[in-house]
Amino acid sequence: MSRRSLIAAGAIGAIGLGSGLAALAQGQPAAKAARGLPPIDPGRLAPMSEIVGFGGRKEANSLTADSDDVRMYREAVGWMKARSEANPLDPMGWAQHWAHHSMFCATNTFGYQVHYGWFFLPWHRAYLVNLEQKIRRLLNEPAFALPYWDWTRNPRLPDWLWGADNPLWDTTRAQEQGDMVPADFLELGPALRALTFDHFGGRKRVPGENQVEGTLEQGAHNNVHNWTGGEMASFDGAGNDPLFQCHHGNIDRVWEIWLAQGEGRANPADPDWLDHRFWFFGPGGDREAVRVGDLLDTRSLGYAFADLEWRSTLTSKAIPTFDGKGTTFGTIDLGKTDLARIRDLTEGRARGRVSLNYERMSLPIQPFQHRLFLIDDASGAATYVGTFTILPIPDLRSGLERSVTTQVEVPPAGLAALLEAGRVRVVGVPVPLKGRKIPEQPVPFAGVSLTVEA
Ligand code: C2O
Repeated sequence: MSRRSLIAAGAIGAIGLGSGLAALAQGQPAAKAARGLPPIDPGRLAPMSEIVGFGGRKEANSLTADSDDVRMYREAVGWMKARSEANPLDPMGWAQHWAHHSMFCATNTFGYQVHYGWFFLPWHRAYLVNLEQKIRRLLNEPAFALPYWDWTRNPRLPDWLWGADNPLWDTTRAQEQGDMVPADFLELGPALRALTFDHFGGRKRVPGENQVEGTLEQGAHNNVHNWTGGEMASFDGAGNDPLFQCHHGNIDRVWEIWLAQGEGRANPADPDWLDHRFWFFGPGGDREAVRVGDLLDTRSLGYAFADLEWRSTLTSKAIPTFDGKGTTFGTIDLGKTDLARIRDLTEGRARGRVSLNYERMSLPIQPFQHRLFLIDDASGAATYVGTFTILPIPDLRSGLERSVTTQVEVPPAGLAALLEAGRVRVVGVPVPLKGRKIPEQPVPFAGVSLTVEA
């Protein structure tokens, strides 16, 4: 087999088999598929193809089925699907595009997985640029730009993603046309208040240590995936739903919004991040390397956003109330909590944030969608903290190689409650999702802790 056909075989494996992907993608026989394969040496890869064109990405709900970018997106996805039907190995086909997400997002292999840590934002940016570039070339439309869905401004799923003959329709979605995401699922306050990239975008990945997921990934990102249901609700399937690019377009934009707030917010300066290289299939089917440090200026990647406005969705009437049900995830040891520091934060004498950290030992194989409350057993008071969501990975054998620590910011109201409290439990209340049953506690936790960090 030639090198090219082996690469292509990886694409089929990603869709059909879901395991042994890393090995197939690296041109190894499937029988050798095992963890710990050496990563591809990016030094041997071609650099990213020259960026063609430039486009302003527009908000999905400000567009209609007849808007240029929507028409082009629909036409291109239709073409790409047809190409994959004729030849599943076609590097310009939709199946290949989908498979690429599965390979890096639905894997337990540490060196491949790009979620749960600091590569989440740059990898998904590169994934969208890769598709946008392919579409510009396919249609010969250098001004095409992928629409993004700003769910903070309009939580309604864009109508043009539906329709019987519409290639942008994914029939597996649990939500229907016109459905709206619950407001608290979309709240960006916790992510945007983060002062460090560790909190916002995820922490450095160190082999042998827990991976730490950023607040944006854990919050609105996971929530919209899980809520949509169907393929969007699993890492393996998500890349097949054209809604994915609209959702991730906004996630990418929130990265820009976060940086634009200033006050010291910055991308990591660590060379392990900046010089890390991802690989993608270029338009000609060759694997190309993309350096994280070259992904930080969207204009040089051929796109810009219509605006960087957002609005808080957690208005007082959207704050969920506690109904007395739910599962205790842990008890906060107030004796070990730096309450003096929390008081400084609430009274404006210090800057920083308080996170609830959960260590989970494996990934769920079904949706995990909870709302967290702080319950003060002494007074009975309940304070809403935020959502806690995990996207399932359909791998029954091993779960994830490493545990993942998830950070949930305790919002200002929660801090005030902590200062008053006697004995505080963290209670998770499962949120019903259309068409799916959410188990009470399907994920084993190693513990809940509270950290105060600048
Ligand atoms: Cu790699 Cu939103 O998923």
